[in-house]
Amino acid sequence: MKIICKIVIFFTISAYMIACSSTTEPETSLEELYPDFYGRFGNDFALDALPNYANQDVPTYIDKDNTAANPITDKGAFLGRVLFYDKNLSSDNTVACASCHQQEHAFSDLTSVSGGVNGNTGRHSMRLINSRFADESHFFWDERANTLEDQTTKPIQDHNEMGFSGEDGDPGLDDLITKLGDIGYYTDLFTFVYGNPDITEAKIQLAIAQFVRSIQSFDSKFDTGRAQVSSNNQDFPNFSADENDGKTLFLLPKNMGGAGCAGCHNPPEFDIRSTSGNNGVTGVFGSLDTDFTVTRAPSLRDLVKPDGSSNGAFMHDASLGSLEDVIEHYNSGIALNDDLDERLAPGGVPQNLGLSATEKQQLVDFLKTLSGSNVYTDPKYASPF
Ligand code: HEC
Ligand code: HEC
Repeated sequence: MKIICKIVIFFTISAYMIACSSTTEPETSLEELYPDFYGRFGNDFALDALPNYANQDVPTYIDKDNTAANPITDKGAFLGRVLFYDKNLSSDNTVACASCHQQEHAFSDLTSVSGGVNGNTGRHSMRLINSRFADESHFFWDERANTLEDQTTKPIQDHNEMGFSGEDGDPGLDDLITKLGDIGYYTDLFTFVYGNPDITEAKIQLAIAQFVRSIQSFDSKFDTGRAQVSSNNQDFPNFSADENDGKTLFLLPKNMGGAGCAGCHNPPEFDIRSTSGNNGVTGVFGSLDTDFTVTRAPSLRDLVKPDGSSNGAFMHDASLGSLEDVIEHYNSGIALNDDLDERLAPGGVPQNLGLSATEKQQLVDFLKTLSGSNVYTDPKYASPF
């Protein structure tokens, strides 16, 4: 009886196992689905274990966000990262976004103007730190791109920068799309992200913008302090007296004894306010021409590296080499122009802040607290090639 029972159980279990195994066909692995991707990146990346771009920690006191209709996904940002670092995006395969936006320099460039495929850029490269965490959704020094998505294909279509302008003998964006369509890892990646291999300008824009928005830096001395208090205005326990005094100068309007910086660079993101006008820096690098169109700056976070060394000169024309020079510009260097923000020239008279040497140093000390460390080395922002 016992034996019969065991036999019955044995057959029942075997039948069950056969039934089960026949319904679970061995799944097609990602390696088999996307052979060209794995052939190119297989040793370094697995598509089912991509880095975390979508759910990074953001401090509770950060509430600005210009993501709008293009939320970050791990796969979208990863595709954006591959595109960002790929020299195939330039007409002669020598320049990538990352050539002028280098991770070790807060995604800017140490040179004053950057070299592209057919010459130099007209302005200094901009840091791409915390681009997402801002009210202002226009991009470039003169805000000519309406969204970050719109921005991403402009350098590709710039004759000097990446060379797919479609003019003056340059190939056009359609030619780039055909070129990328012939690269196996893009067939795989676009299928993986969007469900089909078709490459369009819109899909390129969405992916690159997701990667750029994923580049965040919130491990600065400022953040450590800000997390311990309930407002920007309170003294931070981890700051030196000079850093706290510099913070007060930065935050307070001029009529309250401050330097009025926060009127345009809005903490705690330190993004430019959309109300900002021109700040009186009107040069054109390498020329005597003038440029009155600049009303935007990238976030003032990571102006310099955590050790204080340079991420490149400041302003669109790279005319101010140090933070001391920047403070002196606002202290005594404002010159009138028709587009100058009137806050810098109340009643038509250029401001002279009359800062003491100590106050200038305190402002510099404070600006240096805005630099993080992780973003310079985090492998998830690095070249995938
Ligand atoms: C040849 C150098 C060069 C290349 C290549 C380049 N950039 Fe830039 N980037 C610049 C310069 C210079 C500016 C500022 C231009 C201006 O305002 O006129 C800029 C500005 C930007 C901005 C605006 C930032 C802000 O806060 O407003 C973003 C975003 C950006 N680039 C992303 C990219 C992406 C994405 C690519 C690749 C598709 C790319 N760049 C390729 C040099 C370059
Ligand atoms: C009226 C608005 C306004 C005020 C007030 C203002 N800024 Fe600016 N700031 C700007 C604009 C616009 C730019 C970009 C100008 C350019 O590149 O030509 C800028 C650029 C900068 C830069 C360079 C950013 C970069 O990426 O190169 C720094 C640093 C800076 N400001 C610090 C300050 C400090 C410190 C104060 C207070 C003493 C201050 N700003 C006051 C509007 C303002």
